[in-house]
Amino acid sequence: MTENSAQYTINLSKHDRLGEQIEQILGVPEVDCSIDAVGFEASGHGEDAGEKPAQVLNAIMDITQAGGGLGIPGLYVTEDPGASDKDAQTGSLKVRFGQGWAKAHTFNTGQTPAMKYNRDLMKSILSGQAQIAKAVNATVISLDEAPGGYKDFDSGVAKKFVIDPHGMLK
Ligand SMILES: NC(=O)c1ccc[n+]([C@@H]2O[C@H](COP(=O)([O-])OP(=O)(O)OC[C@H]3O[C@@H](n4cnc5c(N)ncnc54)[C@H](O)[C@@H]3O)[C@@H](O)[C@H]2O)c1
Repeated sequence: MTENSAQYTINLSKHDRLGEQIEQILGVPEVDCSIDAVGFEASGHGEDAGEKPAQVLNAIMDITQAGGGLGIPGLYVTEDPGASDKDAQTGSLKVRFGQGWAKAHTFNTGQTPAMKYNRDLMKSILSGQAQIAKAVNATVISLDEAPGGYKDFDSGVAKKFVIDPHGMLK
């Protein structure tokens, strides 16, 4: 994140045309490759859009150039009994797969191999090279502040809360 990162932020809750917003930043409405870090809990684009589980999969196929790669760590399930769409209740989504085929996209998905990166990440955190607390906006709170922390986290604030009941963290 840079001080100017706001100018590179795309807000799909207000303005649903993803390609147009990318074009304003890059000069072209396409990217080389995409990552779906949302999964089946995706919301539709635009104001007051409800749940739309295939939204991000379709969006990344739309905006990734031909031959590009799509990384999909976002979770997709085989059962979602609470879904409003009957097909989605068994994990069947309305994915425009022909788009991915026509553009010869490569798809990679599944559980991320966290253990593979664990040791190197730990070393870079311990050496101070990776400022992980800063990157996830870690916020230390007391036990009394915990109910408020849970409430804020549930509302989707861009913070991770660390409860420090004995005041041991600086
Ligand atoms: N593959 C793995 O091993 C692995 C590991 C960790 C997390 N996950 C999955 O990754 C996904 C994200 O996890 P998280 O903890 O960051 O979840 P999160 O709820 O904190 O973040 C999801 C974000 O997606 C945003 N979002 C919703 N609809 C969107 C849309 N249409 N377009 C763009 N953004 C949209 C939400 O506003 C939210 O900020 C989840 O599905 C989680 O289960 C997978």
